[in-house]
Amino acid sequence: MLWPLFPIVIYIHAAFSQEISTNTPVPPLQWINLTPLLGGSAAPPPLKDASIGYDDTSRNVIIFGGESSQGFPQSSTYLLNLDTLTWHSPSPPTQLQGDPPARAGAISGIDFAASYRHSYLVAGGRGTSGPLNDVWEFDYNNEFWSQVQITGSSPSPRYGAVGGMDFRTPPIQSISLASPNNTYYLAGGFDGKNAISLSDVWRLNISGTLSSNNARDVIGSWEKIPFDDSLPGRTGMSGAVVLTGSQQHIVSVGGCHSSNGNASCADGTSYVLNIDAIGDNSPPTCPAPRSDPALAANRSPGSSFGSQVYMVLGTYDSSLWDDGNGLNRGEVDILDIGTGAWARILPSGDPGQQGNDKPAFPTPREGAAAISFPQKLVGSNRNQAADMLVFGGRDASGRYLSEVWILRAYNATLTQSNQHWGGFGNGQLTGGTDATGAGVTIQYMTACATALKSGSTSGSPTATGTSPSQPTNTNGNDTPSPVASDLYDTSVIHKALAPVSIAILLPAIVLFRLSSFSLSQPDAPGLGLSFFFASIVGGIAAFGIGIGGLASAFTSITLNSSIAKRASSSLNLQTGHGRAGLALFVALYGVVPALVAISLCIKVRRNGGVSSLSLSNGRSRFNSSEAPEKRMDSPAPPTNAASEETSAADDRSQSRERRARSWSSFGWPGGRHSAGHMSEESVQDAAGSPSGRSFEVTNRPQRTRHASVHSLAAFAEYNRPGQNRNSFTCRFSMMQ
Ligand SMILES: *[C@@H]1O[C@H](CO)[C@@H](O)[C@H](O)[C@H]1NC(C)=O
Ligand SMILES: *[C@@H]1O[C@H](CO)[C@@H](O)[C@H](O)[C@H]1NC(C)=O
Ligand SMILES: *[C@@H]1O[C@H](CO)[C@@H](O)[C@H](O)[C@H]1NC(C)=O
Ligand SMILES: *[C@@H]1O[C@H](CO)[C@@H](O)[C@H](O)[C@H]1NC(C)=O
Repeated sequence: MLWPLFPIVIYIHAAFSQEISTNTPVPPLQWINLTPLLGGSAAPPPLKDASIGYDDTSRNVIIFGGESSQGFPQSSTYLLNLDTLTWHSPSPPTQLQGDPPARAGAISGIDFAASYRHSYLVAGGRGTSGPLNDVWEFDYNNEFWSQVQITGSSPSPRYGAVGGMDFRTPPIQSISLASPNNTYYLAGGFDGKNAISLSDVWRLNISGTLSSNNARDVIGSWEKIPFDDSLPGRTGMSGAVVLTGSQQHIVSVGGCHSSNGNASCADGTSYVLNIDAIGDNSPPTCPAPRSDPALAANRSPGSSFGSQVYMVLGTYDSSLWDDGNGLNRGEVDILDIGTGAWARILPSGDPGQQGNDKPAFPTPREGAAAISFPQKLVGSNRNQAADMLVFGGRDASGRYLSEVWILRAYNATLTQSNQHWGGFGNGQLTGGTDATGAGVTIQYMTACATALKSGSTSGSPTATGTSPSQPTNTNGNDTPSPVASDLYDTSVIHKALAPVSIAILLPAIVLFRLSSFSLSQPDAPGLGLSFFFASIVGGIAAFGIGIGGLASAFTSITLNSSIAKRASSSLNLQTGHGRAGLALFVALYGVVPALVAISLCIKVRRNGGVSSLSLSNGRSRFNSSEAPEKRMDSPAPPTNAASEETSAADDRSQSRERRARSWSSFGWPGGRHSAGHMSEESVQDAAGSPSGRSFEVTNRPQRTRHASVHSLAAFAEYNRPGQNRNSFTCRFSMMQ
């Protein structure tokens, strides 16, 4: 009886196999929206691809350049003081005013070198009249800009390159050097026409002095690092420079191989270039391919975090990829560049300053600027957590943003979902700058993003670096993702009705079987009858609830996605759960009853009559004496063709209605009582009303014994005059 369940169980199990790390150590993570807490008169406008830096001495975050809502590169500088939470404009000495040329998509990094330089470096970017390769520094002490004097050759002008420097890299100090050197890296980019190969890797050495007295004394020199030229170029990618041990790495994620980058062509492949070993790896893909996400190293203390990179935000094409609704819930993807493993983490959200709101997350956005720091950037107890600060971007609907968010990583290590930790407290989430971490938990997503259309792959060209690549995409593109169920939702009614129906149906089937054995025992017919009635009532209830449950799945399904790009053709049957549910329904509520009916049908034929099916009162279908009386009671046949047509149409719709109901009634031909009834109606139908349908009305007053009778009557219209009843019974069961 239950055989149809097994393939379904196997199917569901197969759909849950996956390739993702679900035990990468991660800190407890929480998004905090800083935007409503910020004041000051000089807040930046919405910007995409701005440069961002931070100076812990002055406590100023710098936002420079970026692309305006109109798509134009900007040259303004904004400072956000994290003690006062106010925006202000730089106030340079009068003789040192002036900004660098406007740009967006530059690379940048700190340049702290003892007392020689306390500044922020910006290189390249998309200028007003094309790509740039100049280098500038902003002096945090006196808040002025100075152009770096470059000696020797420079990389070609470009924007959207990956690079910068790792905050943890100490300056090079040597008695042979007049001042400490800092080193920056740059790879790939876009020259305005073509994407430049990621293996076009450059190093920039900076030395000299920057102060208001020595405002033009920073010098730099570029050198090309000899990677082979086999890596693709990409646009709309995002990157970070990460120091692990003594080795510098450039990490590049997302973007497109074509020149016009957008979310549709975004690629899930990431590359890790080891500068010191001059080799590269391409970790297996996992998160949904992103356009212009934000990357930053995990700066939390603890040895397990040193090789981790956070990828947040970006946009993805939800008509091509099912990301399990991760990005809409603030998904933080963590790449361990040592192992190449991705973990997809759903962090806690921002419950508002009072801690009472529904936890909020930043919407997906491309071109947000991000920095991470080993301490809290805002609030007290700064050692309690490490903050990443994210500014600006453009959301999936094309709106430019000026929001500031913090991704706070508390000082603890988690290795499983919902794990409680030292600072978990009373479980009540707190918000605001002083969020303590109470109530913060994380969820490990258990599946990688999956392609929704067979055409969309990760599009990864083979990465043929000088060191062997790690395995590429092992993520089955056509396997329904279990986390797809996170993307869709249905009403509580569906979630309750479907299991209740099955819970009632299975015992009803068992009772039905028991009743047939008991009925054949002459000494205990009462028990058999009560089993029988209980099974019929249970069956009717189960079918009714089951149909309600199935219907509510279709009527109440919703999509938990705010991304406008989803192709919203149909939400139905997009998930493994939905398809398995329908298969289960068809098997248990259609195929099983049909098989029972067929088996009974065969039994009837073999026995050459109804004796084996007749009721204990011995009434035979063939000998029904009620039939002629009923025929007498029949309403007069319609007198003209028009009314006949009308009544036929009415009856058809009625019988359609009944047929639908009959699905819920568990009334198959094997129901002993109903078998007798059906035969009466068949006789009636065969001999009686010209339309072949009006018997329904005739029989109604006498039909008192079982609801299942209705369902059988509903099918009686398929009986044709002169047909023998057994063949009718079989026909009925085939239809079901
Ligand atoms: C740049 O600095 C590195 C050390 O970080 C050094 O090996 C290299 O020779 C320097 N290059 C130039 C052109 O000064
Ligand atoms: C330091 O930087 C300067 C300026 O770019 C460069 O000429 C010099 O070679 C560098 N030295 C080292 C040891 O990195
Ligand atoms: C996205 O980029 C692809 C490849 O360059 C292009 O074919 C497609 O038209 C772009 N879509 C949009 C919406 O710009
Ligand atoms: C943070 O955690 C480290 C160990 O991971 C511990 O040594 C340190 O004391 C903690 N700091 C705070 C402020 O709790």
